[in-house]
Amino acid sequence: MSKVIAITNEKGGVGKTTTATTIAYLFAKKGKKVLLIDYDGQANSTLIMSDENPNNIKITISTIINYIIKDEELPLKETYIIKNKGIDLIPSNANLFTLETKLSTVNFREYILKKFIDKIKVDYDYVIIDCMPQIGTAMLNVMVASDSLIIPTQAEILSAKGLSELIKHYQVIKKVNKNLKIDGILITMDKENTKSSKKVKEMLNNAFKEEINIFQTIIPRSIKVAEATIYKKTICEYLPTNIVAKAYKNLVNEVLQIE
Ligand SMILES: Nc1ncnc2c1ncn2[C@@H]1O[C@H](COP(=O)(O)OP(=O)(O)OP(=O)(O)O)[C@@H](O)[C@H]1O
Ligand SMILES: [Mg+2]
Repeated sequence: MSKVIAITNEKGGVGKTTTATTIAYLFAKKGKKVLLIDYDGQANSTLIMSDENPNNIKITISTIINYIIKDEELPLKETYIIKNKGIDLIPSNANLFTLETKLSTVNFREYILKKFIDKIKVDYDYVIIDCMPQIGTAMLNVMVASDSLIIPTQAEILSAKGLSELIKHYQVIKKVNKNLKIDGILITMDKENTKSSKKVKEMLNNAFKEEINIFQTIIPRSIKVAEATIYKKTICEYLPTNIVAKAYKNLVNEVLQIE
């Protein structure tokens, strides 16, 4: 049985790509078969997890979605999967920025990505989707195609407040995809022991704890995370003893316990 996990938050810069690439890497290290889908025109996962220049890549998630929309036969998997660090990657590039417009005229437009993912997921234990910082039909496609969501949020009051909107969306989408779960809210880039950080944790606990899991693991802030990306590495490859690397290892153990 495979599990499709979307790393999502409509807010930008909250740690989606860092979480998606790092947990994909750690799952693969644990011997799991992992597919990472870069579902963001910024192509940050592609930049970290491959040596290619996204603009030179011929077949990306955007190309694949075009095939599905036109109901054309997909190219062979070998022609578009990039294999690196034990992970299979479906790359992205700036073409994905036009997806929202493209989908607007398509029938059953929320089900396009699901058609593809349902076919490809049988080859994997985990399909991890690094999402764009947006809401709209493109993101509805992810929610319809996924089994669960991991929602990274910065330990800042405004980020935490934005979550209510996301949760409202989730509740609407559950009417279409009844099996969709939230694996958890993940606090990222935490500056430990600051007043505001503590307040955010308290606020999240008060607002959601009854209905939504908040991961025990909190991802601390470290300058080394951005440094690792310069070398096209996740923090766990770049500096396995770093506090953020250790936290992501704990997170993966938590995620593995959720079924
Ligand atoms: N734990 C951390 N400590 C310090 N910096 C971090 C941490 N996690 C991520 N960053 C840095 O913060 C920035 C934003 O992180 P990331 O790209 O993962 O967020 P994102 O949610 O994917 O952003 P976007 O919405 O633009 O796709 C990056 O420069 C990243 O290197
Ligand atoms: Mg990102």
